[in-house]
Amino acid sequence: DKGTYPHFMLKEIEEQPFVLRNIIQKYMDENGELTIDKNILNSMNDTDRIYIIAAGSSYHAGLIGKQYIEKVSKVQVEVHISSEFAYNTPLLSERPFFIFISQSGETADSRSVLVNIKKLGYPSLTITNVPGSTLSRECDYTLLLHAGPEIAVASTKAYTAQVAVLAILAEVTARSKKIQVNFDLIQELSLVANTMEVLCNCKDTYVNIAQKFFSTTRNAFFIGRGMDYYVGLEGALKLKEISYIQAEGFAGGELKHGTIALIEEGTPIVALSTQEGINLSIRGNVKEVVARGANPCIISLKGLEQDGDTFTIPEVHEFLTPIVSVIPLQLISYYAALHRDCDVDKPRNLAKSVTVE
Ligand code: F6R
Repeated sequence: DKGTYPHFMLKEIEEQPFVLRNIIQKYMDENGELTIDKNILNSMNDTDRIYIIAAGSSYHAGLIGKQYIEKVSKVQVEVHISSEFAYNTPLLSERPFFIFISQSGETADSRSVLVNIKKLGYPSLTITNVPGSTLSRECDYTLLLHAGPEIAVASTKAYTAQVAVLAILAEVTARSKKIQVNFDLIQELSLVANTMEVLCNCKDTYVNIAQKFFSTTRNAFFIGRGMDYYVGLEGALKLKEISYIQAEGFAGGELKHGTIALIEEGTPIVALSTQEGINLSIRGNVKEVVARGANPCIISLKGLEQDGDTFTIPEVHEFLTPIVSVIPLQLISYYAALHRDCDVDKPRNLAKSVTVE
């Protein structure tokens, strides 16, 4: 039931702060510490390489999860698109551990990988929103997203829940390995939940951005570096699937290796800048496209903002920006789709769970 909301997508976007607080509660033990099933931690500690397998938005969450697990828990991670892995299996390490990220737990491409790696005897974990789903039943372990049912075809709250659970998995694994984590994840995630609420209350701004940049354009580019690049991929996927604008995400430095040829007078470029280390380089990339006529929509993090930025996100821990910077992108896509009279909750040609390979 979507209650008073005009669309499930809007309802689910607005649920994100509550989902995040719920995740913190569900993963907290009686001493107020984040905790994960011991068996999962044993697998995280025994493995020499983690293979994350996922599709679509869940794949984008996996790309961020790799950063978390490698940087915080110091385990090597590869992230693979499930349909590619299924037919083009890479050389595996000696002790692989597989993590299947899937909102529905039913994605056939991911399941087909699971069937194969189980035959090889490798351990597996699914991070999913649906208890009792196929992946949850067939993987050795499950971490739930606790996001509540996601009805809109475009994934929103499941994506942010996936990133949050991956951050928790990385932190708890690090602690179990006695690796020092120099921030308090519960506190930082709680701050993120509050920031999400602030961001959900900036609707007028998103309506204006949607109108200014996306009311008539045929295409759009999203650029970023590092984690901002991955959020850009997710922002582009949201925009294309519900508004039918051809949108693509690129690594900021990669544009000039070909794609910049597509920039014309007025082409919208959404640039994300939430990471101190890459702020100047991404702004350099913005200058390159503006010189070719692009219409820049710059979304920055407080502290890194510059005059002329389109929107600035309140400060959160640099590590967790992918959970907040995606919210303006979700809402801008939503209003762009509304403006273009698209069926927001049920975009053409798409199904909520993709149960065919
Ligand atoms: C995008 C979207 C899809 C799914 C993908 C994987 O908004 O919803 O890209 O993320 O089909 O689905 P799950 O996560 O159910 O495996």
